[in-house]
Amino acid sequence: MEMTPQPGGMFGVIVDGFDVSTSPDVDVEAIKQAVYTQKIAVLKNQKLTPQEFVTLGRRFGEPQIYYQPMYHHPECKEIFVSSNVPQDGERVGVPQTGKFWHSDYSFMPRPFSLTFIYPQVVPEKNRGTYFIDMGRAYANLPERLKEAVAGTTARHSASRYFKIRPTDVFRPIGEVLAEIQKESPDVVHPTVVTHPVTGEEILYVNDGLTLELLDEDGNALNEDVFEDLLEATGQRDMTFTHQNIHLQTFEEGDLLIWDNRSLIHRALHTTTPEPAVSFRVTVMDGHDW
Ligand SMILES: [Fe+2]
Repeated sequence: MEMTPQPGGMFGVIVDGFDVSTSPDVDVEAIKQAVYTQKIAVLKNQKLTPQEFVTLGRRFGEPQIYYQPMYHHPECKEIFVSSNVPQDGERVGVPQTGKFWHSDYSFMPRPFSLTFIYPQVVPEKNRGTYFIDMGRAYANLPERLKEAVAGTTARHSASRYFKIRPTDVFRPIGEVLAEIQKESPDVVHPTVVTHPVTGEEILYVNDGLTLELLDEDGNALNEDVFEDLLEATGQRDMTFTHQNIHLQTFEEGDLLIWDNRSLIHRALHTTTPEPAVSFRVTVMDGHDW
């Protein structure tokens, strides 16, 4: 196995020669450490069945099963399917997922540690995912904002980007919203979290799933602070040219692993979407925040 820095990118490593069935544990550990410190690893030339993909995830931690079955792969429920390509005339997975800045599962009490994406149908033109390293973004915040968020917490919610399911059609929106709160009640995380492995401080705030900041007594903080954080970190830049934004591209056979604590990401979908299918596995690595 060979690991080299990602050329031209802001962060990340390229991994050649990793084989889920023959590579030793020491290689898995090396990749894991690289993900913690370099944030993304791109495993090249992967040819995996859905089962093998889950096995790969299991070598890095405990694969999680997404709480909504409509995203599950028909054969492996540990795989979350993002797809706009019907199979045998039937919809598989969910189309147009993640077109907003987020960290996977930040609206849950225990967000995933690592995310694995294995593209199955790679778009011709608009391929890639935008990323921001929120550890680096925190380090570069103006002192004024660091002081403003010290000791605060942030409320995260699934509500804004909850995808209406086929079974929700004709239901009153209030009933659907109440159900979302019941299934995945809003959660509160510290605004700045410490990475359990690297010790780095990370601004754990994303535009898609964070609703508001709360002071030490649980009262809503001035909304301007939240808006300033989004602006300063690059989440308000619709040209995606902000210095914090990294566009991670991929080609067939690539498998991306990233640190879901440090990075927020946003899918690159266009208004005229091309066929795209992606499998995702998410794992807990045994470290709490
Ligand atoms: Fe995501």
